[in-house]
Amino acid sequence: MDTSTFIASTASPIHYTSSWEAPSNIALIKYWGKKEPQIPKNPSLSFTLSSSKTKTKVIFTPHDKNEIDFEFYFHGVQKPDFKPKLKTFFDRISAYIPWIVRYHLEIHSENSFPHSSGIASSASSMAALSLCLMDLEQQLFPEMEQAYFFQKASFLARLGSGSAARSIQGPVTLWGKNETKKTSSDLFAVPFGSSLHSVFEEYQDTILLVDKGSKPVSSTQGHNLMHGHPFAENRFSQATNHLSELVPIMDSGALDDFIHLVELEALSLHAMMLTSSPYFILMQPNTLAIIQKVWEFRKETLTPLCFTLDAGANVHLLYPNSFRTEIHSFIEGELSGFCQKGQYLFDAVGKGAKKV
Ligand code: DP6
Repeated sequence: MDTSTFIASTASPIHYTSSWEAPSNIALIKYWGKKEPQIPKNPSLSFTLSSSKTKTKVIFTPHDKNEIDFEFYFHGVQKPDFKPKLKTFFDRISAYIPWIVRYHLEIHSENSFPHSSGIASSASSMAALSLCLMDLEQQLFPEMEQAYFFQKASFLARLGSGSAARSIQGPVTLWGKNETKKTSSDLFAVPFGSSLHSVFEEYQDTILLVDKGSKPVSSTQGHNLMHGHPFAENRFSQATNHLSELVPIMDSGALDDFIHLVELEALSLHAMMLTSSPYFILMQPNTLAIIQKVWEFRKETLTPLCFTLDAGANVHLLYPNSFRTEIHSFIEGELSGFCQKGQYLFDAVGKGAKKV
């Protein structure tokens, strides 16, 4: 499929308001390294979350300016400092939604998670905004099919932030062309499909907030440091191989193999950061303390609890729903002390974005 599939026609403008909620996601196979325009160097796979989400409302008002024109409000407050990032996004996607220049957009966005929790909001926010845009496009072109609606929403979201492509549908999505899934694409994420083992549909993710401050190196800078990185090519093939290994595990529910691969991916991602030039470390001492505790707990109790990390110090603890009670006691008793102000967030795998 090429990108021309996603170029819409123009149509007479209408007054319309759209509201969508899109979840955050946590990658099991990590996207780290990309080329223009937002094409990943390796395929990635993620759990779509449920409680950590962004709600976005867009009020579309027809205008005659023939240019991209918008205002942005975050939790009710106008935020002009967010505009440059959004402008870049609109410039990138305007060729695919040429009707956009015929509207003024008033965008209202809010996150369910605490503002400075260190949880990346770009995935859920770009996904929610893309869905509002597609919602209007569907009003303009009512013959649009649902599959196309979600594919193009993911395609647009990707152009805002790569991982946002995976925040449209649930419970597990995959982004990046690979041999294991024939429907996969570099242009948009696709659902894992019906072969997913039921244990993963209810998988839990508790996010331990180790460091709520802003990160010293952004994801975008980190991706750029993969250009010329001495281990880049090996990393991209490692991730591709990991994806091929993970797909049958997601089908069978083999949790020991799942744990091994997920933790290996998390540490491989951070190994790329440690060996970039300039090098950087996003983990904090408490990140490592938590990892040690998780390993001890797993050895002693044989509980299938594992961790993953995104581009930050926070730790995502992943476990089956049936082990909730004992893992919650372990978190409260042994891990909360390593979290900033003792804070952590319970989340779980979810079904994807929804219209509100
Ligand atoms: C470590 O999607 O935030 O979370 O495309 O530059 O916006 P941009 O990067 P972003 O990178 C996510 C990196 C990651 C891994 C992942 O989610 O796959």
